[in-house]
Amino acid sequence: MSFDLVFFGGTGDLTWRKLMPALFQAFRHGKLPPGARILSVARDEQSDAQYRQWLHERFREVEGAKRPSDEEFERFAALVHYRRMDLSQAEHYQHLRQWLDERRADTVVFYLATSPHLFTQICEQLGAAGLNHERVRVVLEKPLGHDLASAQQINRVVRSVFDETQAFRIDHYLGKPSVQNLMALRFGNALFEPLWRRESIANIQITLAESLGVGTRGPFYDGTGALRDMIQNHALQLLTMIAMEPPASNDADAIRDEKLKVLRALKPFSPEAVARDVVRGQYRAGNVDGQGVPGYLDEAKIPADSCTETFVALKAEIQNWRWAGVPFYLRTGKRLAARDAQIVVNFRQVPHAIFPGPQRANRLIIKLQPEDGLELELLAAKGSGHGEALAPVKLDLDFDRAFSATNRVGAYERLLLDAIAGKLNLFVRSDEQEQAWRWVEPILNAWAASEEPPRPYTAGSWGPAAASAMVARDGFTWPEEV
Ligand code: BG6
Repeated sequence: MSFDLVFFGGTGDLTWRKLMPALFQAFRHGKLPPGARILSVARDEQSDAQYRQWLHERFREVEGAKRPSDEEFERFAALVHYRRMDLSQAEHYQHLRQWLDERRADTVVFYLATSPHLFTQICEQLGAAGLNHERVRVVLEKPLGHDLASAQQINRVVRSVFDETQAFRIDHYLGKPSVQNLMALRFGNALFEPLWRRESIANIQITLAESLGVGTRGPFYDGTGALRDMIQNHALQLLTMIAMEPPASNDADAIRDEKLKVLRALKPFSPEAVARDVVRGQYRAGNVDGQGVPGYLDEAKIPADSCTETFVALKAEIQNWRWAGVPFYLRTGKRLAARDAQIVVNFRQVPHAIFPGPQRANRLIIKLQPEDGLELELLAAKGSGHGEALAPVKLDLDFDRAFSATNRVGAYERLLLDAIAGKLNLFVRSDEQEQAWRWVEPILNAWAASEEPPRPYTAGSWGPAAASAMVARDGFTWPEEV
C-alpha cells in the first residue's frame, strides 16, 4: 500500500523530536513501504537536501539508542521531501495537490503538527483544494483548542471538511504499550474483571510525573498549564480506559462509546469542589537528579507574576453503579521527584483481619514509564515465625523482558502507522474530547475567578503538601508515601 504523509509544521519541535524519529523507527522495522513519501511543509525556503541536512543534525540530539548511522539516515532521508508553504495561500494548496496527484498514493495523511490556531484554516484550505477526498486522513495533534468553545469550533470545521472517520485526533498516551496492555489485562483476561468495581477497589491513582521543567516551551506552556496540557487529555484518557465497561467489540466506535460514557458520568465540579478537591501548584527552585534547577518564574520567557500551574492533583468521581464512591485521584506535574507514569489500583483490605500488624491491601501497579510493566502486590508471610505480620511481595512483569523489546513499538510510531492504516481505535473522537473539556472547564473558571495563586512546591519534590492532605482526608496515601 503506497502512502504520502504530509507534516504541516515540518520544522517544529514535535516533528523533529517525535514524529520523524518515530517514522525512522518504523522504517528501521521495515514497516514503511518502499514507495512511501514523507513531505514536510513550513514557512522557510529550503531545498529537500537542505531540509534533510537540517533533520540529520536534529537527529543527533535524539536519544542515543535510537540514533541512526549516517548510512541508515541517508536511506530514510531519501523518502523525505520539503516544500515551502504559506498556509493562508490557496494556490500553495493547489501546488500541494499537484505534488500529491503526481502519483495518486493509496492513502494521503495530513498531520497537523502546527499551533492549533492554524487547524481551522488548514482544514478549510485543504477542503477548498479538494484535498478531502476519501483517500485522505487528517491527524490533529493536541492541544485541540484551549477550552470547550475553541475545541467545538475546530471540530465544527473539521467535520464540515472531513468525515469523522477521516479525523485522527491524537493522544500519544493511547499509543503507549502499557495502555494497550491495560485493554488486554481487563478484557483479555477473566481474572480481574470480577474485581474491577467498587466492592473490591478502594481507590485508583493515576500519576503522570515529569522531572523535566518547561524547557524552551515557556510561552506555549505559560498559556496552557498542566490541567490543559496533561489532565484534559492524557490523564482523562487513561481514566476512561481503566473505568470503562467492556466494549462489545474491538471496533473503534464500540470502544469510544464506552469511553464517552465514563466521561459523561464524571461528577461535575462546583466551585466548592474545586476548592476542596483540586490542588494546583507551581515549582520553585530546587534539586532534580542532584542538579540545582530554577523555579518556574525564573524560566525563560515566563512572566514574573505568572499564575500558570505546573502541577495539578484532583479527586474525580464516576457516578455509575460500578464506581460509585470510589475516588479516582489524578495528578501530574513538571519538576517532580522522578519521571514516573503509573496507575495504581488500590484494592480494599480484607473484611476481617486474622494476622497481626498493620493492615495492608493488594495493589496492582500498571507502569507506563520509565519502564513498562505490571506489578501485583500480594501479602505474604515471610515464614520466620508463627503469628507474624504479613509483608507485601510483588509479582513483577517486565514487558520488555517478557516480549522481545524489538517487537515493541513506541507510541508515536504505533499511532502514525495506525493513522496510515486507517485504524481509529487509539484516536479520540470529537465528542469524547469535547466532554473532557466540559469537565475541566469549571476548574479553569474557578481558578480564573480566584485570587489565590498556585501553591509553591520545591522542584524535585512530589508537589505541594496539599496534594497529600487531599488523599489523606479520605484515609489514603500516594504510592511514594506507602
Ligand atoms: C505532552 C505535553 O503532551 O506530553 C508535554 O505537552 C509533556 O508537556 C509530554 O512533557 C509528556 O509525554 P511523555 O510521553 O514524555 O510522558
